[in-house]
Amino acid sequence: MSRNSHVMPFASRIAGIGSAFPETSVSNSALAEKIANYGAETNDPWIVERTGIRERRFSQPGNEAERNSSLGYRAAIKAMEMAGIGPMDIDQIIYATCSPDTLVPSTACWLQSKLGAKRALAYDLNAACSGFVFGLSIADQAIQTGKAKHILLLGSEVLSPFLNWKDRQTCIIFGDGSGAAVISQCPSDSPSRILGHQIESDGTQWDLFYMPAGGSNQEVTAEVIEQSLNKMQMKGRDIFKFATRTLADNALKMVESQGLTLQDVDWMIPHQANLRILEAVAKRLDFPVEKVLVNVDRYANTSAATVPTAMDEAVRDGRIKKGQLLLLNVFGAGVTYGAALVRW
Ligand code: COA
Repeated sequence: MSRNSHVMPFASRIAGIGSAFPETSVSNSALAEKIANYGAETNDPWIVERTGIRERRFSQPGNEAERNSSLGYRAAIKAMEMAGIGPMDIDQIIYATCSPDTLVPSTACWLQSKLGAKRALAYDLNAACSGFVFGLSIADQAIQTGKAKHILLLGSEVLSPFLNWKDRQTCIIFGDGSGAAVISQCPSDSPSRILGHQIESDGTQWDLFYMPAGGSNQEVTAEVIEQSLNKMQMKGRDIFKFATRTLADNALKMVESQGLTLQDVDWMIPHQANLRILEAVAKRLDFPVEKVLVNVDRYANTSAATVPTAMDEAVRDGRIKKGQLLLLNVFGAGVTYGAALVRW
């Protein structure tokens, strides 16, 4: 799906961004100690060499302040402060997540209640790690058509309850965290705006990454728990190859669709799955690796939260400057993938 080429009366821009993480940081060595209790073995040098991850944050089970919607609340408040809007200004809350507080109601509704955003239409969006860019695309279209003026978009996950501590390939690469953005209406010729987006899905590749039980397909029984079927499963090597190719293809298609080149891009903000994937993509595209934003080393893969949290950090520390061109670039379970070009 790509942005309509005919002229719309409005455009949208990212008016504010924010992020929040749980308190507890878990180093690779601490994780290795934890999974040893489940009969699995790993170590810090292996994780650093194969993934670039050094630590991640995990929400404390049962801590109300570290639920997905609670982290989302903290991230949303920061994004709204930057945008200069209050809860009653929000027309929609789009909550991109694959680790909702509860299956029903949606995490968007939990957040709506916490914020007191009474006017907002609130719903969840599950495109796994691609969720933030999928949400950005949907928000931009709602704003272009005049349906909304301010949309609060979350990319937010508490993945730790879905990790299989016996599976050393999977449990080492994920973490918990939350990113939020306020997407606001602006004139269609505004210099700072979302220039375009392309999102795609291919459901035939569902088995690269999935959770067999816990949905309506399969109830969580003692036997399911014993076999860890209610936990995430992935084909790591296949995803690695898919991700490298897809992120590179996404980037080229996105800039070309806007009549630009990769040289015009100031920062690439890719989904943070593995540092080696990001380095391979930069090499494949001959794109300077110093212009690729990275936070996977400190927070691991936080799925839908990786792009907004990496972006928030770089906005707040001054690396991203007004007028710069940002290429958001994602892939995820489904499979889903896509990119967006944003003039900050
Ligand atoms: N600690 C120590 N050894 C480990 C290990 C761990 N945590 N995980 C796997 N190994 C071992 C394997 O058993 C294997 O041993 P063997 O050679 O004796 O069989 C060896 O390390 C290499 O395993 P392999 O699976 O080839 O490693 P890899 O280099 O592909 O790295 C991933 C594994 C998961 C880090 C990597 O494939 C990856 O990041 N894939 C992408 C995953 C992803 O992005 N998922 C999110 C989707 S949004």
